[in-house]
Amino acid sequence: MIKREKIKSLLATTEYNREVIVMGWVRTFRNNQFIAINDGSCMGNIQIVVDFNNTPEELLKRITTGASVAITGTLIESLGKGQRVEVKASAIEILGDSDPDKFPLQPKKHSLEFLREIAHLRFRTNTFNAVFKVRHALAFAIHQFYNERGFVYMHTPIITASDAEGAGETFKVTTLDYDQIPRTEDGHVDYAEDFFGRATNLTVSGQLEGELAAMAFGQIYTFGPTFRAENSNTTRHLAEFWMIEPEIAFADLEDNMQLAEDMMKYIITYAVENCKEEIEFLNARLLEDEKTKPQQERSELSLIDKLNFCLNNDFERLTYTEAIAILRSSKPNQKKQFKYLINEWGADLQSEHERFLVEKHFKKPVILTDYPADIKSFYMRQNEPDAEGRKTVAAMDILFPGIGEMIGGSQREERLDRLTQRMEELNIPQEELWWYLDTRKFGSAPHAGFGLGFERLVLFVTGMTNIRDVIAFPRFPKNAEF
Ligand code: 4AD
Ligand code: MG
Repeated sequence: MIKREKIKSLLATTEYNREVIVMGWVRTFRNNQFIAINDGSCMGNIQIVVDFNNTPEELLKRITTGASVAITGTLIESLGKGQRVEVKASAIEILGDSDPDKFPLQPKKHSLEFLREIAHLRFRTNTFNAVFKVRHALAFAIHQFYNERGFVYMHTPIITASDAEGAGETFKVTTLDYDQIPRTEDGHVDYAEDFFGRATNLTVSGQLEGELAAMAFGQIYTFGPTFRAENSNTTRHLAEFWMIEPEIAFADLEDNMQLAEDMMKYIITYAVENCKEEIEFLNARLLEDEKTKPQQERSELSLIDKLNFCLNNDFERLTYTEAIAILRSSKPNQKKQFKYLINEWGADLQSEHERFLVEKHFKKPVILTDYPADIKSFYMRQNEPDAEGRKTVAAMDILFPGIGEMIGGSQREERLDRLTQRMEELNIPQEELWWYLDTRKFGSAPHAGFGLGFERLVLFVTGMTNIRDVIAFPRFPKNAEF
């Protein structure tokens, strides 16, 4: 028996006039004669030529958009325009019917909003084929990058009792019966009765456990799902997203920045080289999209230009303090166009400020460092106060055009006394993080790391504009369908 061949290899072959079997889903069926089928192996379809005079009417009727079919036939050089090869069908089998009156995907352009409602079927469109191929390539490239450099891949827990970012935006994990919640004598929920005997939640970051491993292996990374119960209904936030978190021992902020920049360039290069067809398609898609916008809202660079631009330029590095000076005297600040005006040192940067720096001022990725301690997490290494006595930490955020914050990281506070003092100031219970503090007691060492938001990376490389379109089944406030 001859085996099914993938459309990707059939479209590339020059071995004509042989029998082949193709299986896939019908995209279109024209003139009772030409079926375009797609099997997901590539974005292209293969054209099947049907001998309709010798095909029963009943069978022809079942060749509908969305149906899955098995075709046996001869691969021939195509006479028609638009394709090099086609299959002259000798046998057509319908594997799965698709009622054309009910199948929601029609051979026409659908809005991304509509496709989001049928996320279980949107993989079958060219756009989502391209997006998820790029997503795959980026994930693969990340593992390859770290593997080549001798990093150990750690799987950190999904269920945890800690809130690594200390932001209180966790999802609770419990098996307690909501209708009969056990209470302690003073009326609090009695977590001793719960599954783990204590309060637990989904992880917001694998960093703290990652640090433990880095203090043994020297360099590790995590790549896993993380969960945030922040009520952010934006095109950049998900309640469930994937994060890559490397952690390196015997390293400072400088090493951390270098690692992050090298990684970004490596993985974007990998995608550009290995997803040519997909990125060209997405580039063209974006150009079409841009045409529908008013002139002043159009992007100056195409997707491919933007990717190359990031690869060919060093990321701009500056401190938070320098950034504040630029922002304070910037036009949108002077003209009060920012929603949040920058008046004083210490203000947290909003996405409008980040985007101004990246897209208008520097026009390339920017690494901002040394943020005020008060707007960053407890574990970041404390810098010596500056001449004016202001306290900063050795933090870094990497900002990308069109995205804003892509990466957040820092050198870690390795000095036990400084760390515990900061935890006290922020009311972070030390008993619960005894294991974290232990690394500072037994062979503490300078170390650093960062977190890359995977979906934000996929957004950037695909040129998509809504983060809900680069993860298969997005989770966001009031939505957990599929
Ligand atoms: O800046 P964040 O909160 O940093 C951490 O979690 C650190 N523990 C990382 C580390 O140092 N190991 O998150 C890191 C990145 C952000 O820069 C952003 O790209 C992404 O994760 N991110 C989100 N992506 C999608 N939806 C959300 N709600 C996100 N929150 C953060
Ligand atoms: Mg951050």
